[in-house]
Amino acid sequence: MHKKLLSIRKSFPIYDNHPDLVYLDSGATALKPKVVIEAMNKYYFEYGVNIHRGVYQLSYQATDAYDVAREKVAKFINSKFEEVVFTRNASEALNFVALTYGKTLQPGDVVLTSELEHHSSVLPWMKMCEEKGATLRYIPLDSEGRITVDAVKMQMDEHVKVVAITYVSNVMGYISPVKEIIDIAHQHNAVVIVDAAQAVPHMAIDVKELGADFLAFSGHKMCGPTAIGVLYGKSKILKKLQPLYYGGDMNDEVEKTSVEIKEIPFCFETGTPAIAEAIGLGQAIDFITEIGYDVIHEHTASLHKYALEKLSKIDGLTVYNKTADVAIIAFNIDGVHPHDAATIFDERNICLRAGHHCAQLITKWLACIGTLRASIYLYNTKEDIDAFVQTVEDAVRFFKGLMGE
Ligand code: ALA
Repeated sequence: MHKKLLSIRKSFPIYDNHPDLVYLDSGATALKPKVVIEAMNKYYFEYGVNIHRGVYQLSYQATDAYDVAREKVAKFINSKFEEVVFTRNASEALNFVALTYGKTLQPGDVVLTSELEHHSSVLPWMKMCEEKGATLRYIPLDSEGRITVDAVKMQMDEHVKVVAITYVSNVMGYISPVKEIIDIAHQHNAVVIVDAAQAVPHMAIDVKELGADFLAFSGHKMCGPTAIGVLYGKSKILKKLQPLYYGGDMNDEVEKTSVEIKEIPFCFETGTPAIAEAIGLGQAIDFITEIGYDVIHEHTASLHKYALEKLSKIDGLTVYNKTADVAIIAFNIDGVHPHDAATIFDERNICLRAGHHCAQLITKWLACIGTLRASIYLYNTKEDIDAFVQTVEDAVRFFKGLMGE
């Protein structure tokens, strides 16, 4: 294990309260390090007042901290300050794009997407297509369930105006060839929205290098707080969008019949925002950056490989994504509903997700009702994997017994 991770669990207070916890549900949300919680507490204890409004020192301090958080996000993804819009989560960011940019769709236009998408990436466009008479077109997945560049090329034509695509699948753990997809889309003048919710925990993101038009992620999957997300948008596109919400702090002049809205990104953030959460997200960025994605990758990839090797020796098990690029294992105990299997893990304090993972299209593509999903992150250990695999083995034996095999 890398020396930076040797005592990493001490950074996560949840392990003090649950020393036996085997947390393998980081795909749903990552655990929160003490530094993130402390940064949020510091705001509430020491300068917990509103931003942008107060004409006094504490409010300036809070405003500065909120601005610093946005600056950190901008640096983290290599964007400009004004291209970072704070949202509640990735879902809200993705809906915002569909509900604003989506208004440009005309009957006959096509939105290209895939069956690998999380519901938050596909459903906003499904509804917008219905409203505008546009068509949702799916990129056929290859035999493993991946999006390939060739398949994207085959589906791309002059009708495609929007491509809504996942960077990393939350069920299969595949990394999509996003840069190539963006290049192809741009050759056809289509705009690309990248759902990077499952990518940010695992890999550095450079929106300029990718060329993404929009990119969304949540803070909570990368050790940040819940209820804070990010929408990146190219400034030249954001400037053409109308706000979805109107109210306090997003405008300059207000007359009886007109309103002059603020510059981006402030025109998209009405009302008192999630100040503590933005500060916490900034701290999570520092935390992840200090460890480094290379270290995170090396650690999670080695546990992933170890788990897959051990699982491959167990009969009566289907692993759906043996070649996953990030440490996510989607599997089922043959003949057993994932929710039934999950109870055995829960009895042993092993946290997994079971079901369709808000991505029903891919579970349907896999021809199953859902899966169990173990998602591995930087605080997991070899002992966690051993406990997990032992429980898989015991569960297989238990259910075989029940089925009289
Ligand atoms: N989208 C999250 C997951 O995949 C909640 O579990």
